[in-house]
Amino acid sequence: MSTNTLAAARTAASHRMHRRLWDRRAGSWDEHGAAGLEPVIEAVLRHANAGHGTVAVDLGCGTGQLSLPLARRGASVTAVDLSPQMIARLMAKARQAGLEGIAGVVSPAQCVDLPPQSCDLVVSNYTLHHLRDHDKQAVVRMAHGWLRPGGRLVVGDMMFGRGMSRRDRSIIASKVAVFLRRGPAGWWRIVKGVVRFSLRLGERPVSAERWRQYFEAAGFTDVTVVPVVAEAAVVVGTKA
Ligand SMILES: C[S@@+](CC[C@H](N)C(=O)[O-])C[C@H]1O[C@@H](n2cnc3c(N)ncnc32)[C@H](O)[C@@H]1O
Repeated sequence: MSTNTLAAARTAASHRMHRRLWDRRAGSWDEHGAAGLEPVIEAVLRHANAGHGTVAVDLGCGTGQLSLPLARRGASVTAVDLSPQMIARLMAKARQAGLEGIAGVVSPAQCVDLPPQSCDLVVSNYTLHHLRDHDKQAVVRMAHGWLRPGGRLVVGDMMFGRGMSRRDRSIIASKVAVFLRRGPAGWWRIVKGVVRFSLRLGERPVSAERWRQYFEAAGFTDVTVVPVVAEAAVVVGTKA
């Protein structure tokens, strides 16, 4: 088997594994996952500044934490997620709310193919830290290609590095403290977290400064980092 074929097989296997993992979480995401992310969701929506007629793309849409409010504001949204169950729940919620402007697409964000200059806004919340660093950069470059001049990319996510800065160390320490207080279940989360974070299995956050570099390298201008809560920030860039 050639190196390329092997790499493609490994990527496909990783997508299948993550799809299964997120499918399992779809049923409880609204109650147990998205609930803590409200300040970041609000910050992304504020900086997205969408209105009637905005053509938007939401990468890693989950059950619609960004897509639904964007559609309520009159945007038409391509909602992308690797998990069919997440998309199914989002579309059920959209139907229930009578929102017609959402098209669900089951796909890894890094494989989305959209026409150049076809949208005004690309958003993503708490998804892109799951991607490998070269895929994060590729997605930022792709978003730049999809956007029309004046369009925006708004990414909200956990943003910290691997302990090289004081801010990184204080974020990591405060996360450990939260889990320590939860007793054995929390201690188990710490062990899992240390393994996943050090080996970069599934959780691969990078610092906000690194995100700024990705945006600028892709050609975005007016790149702004907005700190939201301890671990999370929003990065906004405009296509000139
Ligand atoms: C932490 S949840 C965030 C969901 C939603 N954006 C929110 O703010 O609540 C991450 C979402 O990204 C999706 N996801 C994970 N890896 C992905 C990838 N490579 N491409 C697209 N979606 C992905 C998961 O299925 C899940 O719905």
